[in-house]
Amino acid sequence: MKKETITNNRMEDIISLCKRRGFIFQGSEIYGGLGGVYDYGHYGTLLKNNIRDSWQKSMIQGREDVLLLDSAIFMHPTTWIASGHVGNFDDPLVECRKCHNRMRADNILESFGIGADKMPIDFINKELDKLRAEKKLKCSNCGQVDITLAKKFSLMIKSNFGSPTEALNEENVVYLRPETCGGIYLEYKNTLDSLHPKIPFGIAQIGKAFRNEIAARQFIFRTREFEQMEMQYFIHKKDTKEKYDMWKDIRMKWYIENGIPENKLAWYKHEKLAHYASDAYDVEYDFSCFGGFEEVEGIHARGDWDLSQHSKFSGVDLSYYDEETKERFVPHIVETSAGLGRIMLMFLDYGYTEDNLGGEKRVFLKLPKKLAPIKIAVFPLLKNKPILVSKAKEVYDLLRKDFMCEFDDNGNIGKRYRRQDEIGTPYCVTVDFETIEKDSMVTVRDRDTGNQERIKIEKLSEFFKSKF
Ligand code: GAP
Repeated sequence: MKKETITNNRMEDIISLCKRRGFIFQGSEIYGGLGGVYDYGHYGTLLKNNIRDSWQKSMIQGREDVLLLDSAIFMHPTTWIASGHVGNFDDPLVECRKCHNRMRADNILESFGIGADKMPIDFINKELDKLRAEKKLKCSNCGQVDITLAKKFSLMIKSNFGSPTEALNEENVVYLRPETCGGIYLEYKNTLDSLHPKIPFGIAQIGKAFRNEIAARQFIFRTREFEQMEMQYFIHKKDTKEKYDMWKDIRMKWYIENGIPENKLAWYKHEKLAHYASDAYDVEYDFSCFGGFEEVEGIHARGDWDLSQHSKFSGVDLSYYDEETKERFVPHIVETSAGLGRIMLMFLDYGYTEDNLGGEKRVFLKLPKKLAPIKIAVFPLLKNKPILVSKAKEVYDLLRKDFMCEFDDNGNIGKRYRRQDEIGTPYCVTVDFETIEKDSMVTVRDRDTGNQERIKIEKLSEFFKSKF
């Protein structure tokens, strides 16, 4: 069975923590929810932004050869004809005739060990027929065996430009981009003409993408609206292997540097490639909530397909002139393409921990410190002692100049620790009577070990700077 379809208790636990602590909510919940759409609350947004910033730091700040772009979601509709998405970007859909549950036929076949990735619809229906004859083709929802033939289901989501009363038709149709890289190809020439980068160079962008996924059921792993962090690296064809290996290496290191152990990561090589691709590997992470490895990012050698297609359809020359070699050529592309929400689920899955602290069961999010939404929480020991509250506010004001902090005086200390543990806050600082009456020291408690130490207030900033 495809791992992505397994829902175990761990997934339920993560979803419940995300809702309870304000990380992620089902989209449009008060109207009964909208399938495959999620909203990020306060802590979820902070965590997501920290992951995004870590990616951007590695891809832009840490390099001299990658430029940033923030292109529009709406693009000229020909963009998606040139790229092959209109007409070809689809999944094989089957439906249960009893309960109308929709399923991806390729996932069903793969659960029986039949490789169906990017296979033609005739092949898929032939294989489904065999399962049907053996009464093995069952609805994943109701278990009935009355399942339709597979048909192509486009993942492109359409909208329309112009008068809002106009019906959706081919003249005014615009698509919500199914991947962010489309904007990079369209702005390749403007970037070249304005910033004059020399090949090899990359253009990166982070933004929303939209796909009409058939089975968008696994929380934020597969959604209909999601964010991608993509980079297209423009190269000479002869350098493909070298640059491809370089980017594989860089991207894998990013996961390890962000605290994911090597044994939880793997490469998956695609045997069946898109017609223009010469290589495609996925970075996979061993999701405990799915019980196995699943894709978090793709590294693709795309050849000169994208620029050649857009050149052909737009009539604009997208070639590159190398002044040193006096050669003119259409650049080839190595792409890195990561899903921000999916990577966030990876960190939630890796971080979700249950242990026993001081004889009590607790749940905590062992997030890498630099990604944690809140770095330090500051508490007065008692809420109703103004002297403690004002000193704690002083400490809070001091620390929040440098760190994302939270002031918390709700409930008893135990409750506050539990709350911060579930948010993944690496440190809690408590101001007590001794702080005021004796030594100007506060108690600093470590999320992972529960260990506490006393630190002078004047030394706190320095202490935390060394920790983060
Ligand atoms: N430009 C290439 C491209 O988009 P992809 O393999 O289709 O390649 C890249 O997507 C990454 O985007 C995936 O590895 C995944 O992390 C993320 N992704 C794709 N579809 C998604 C969806 N429906 N929901 C969440 N993330 C998705």
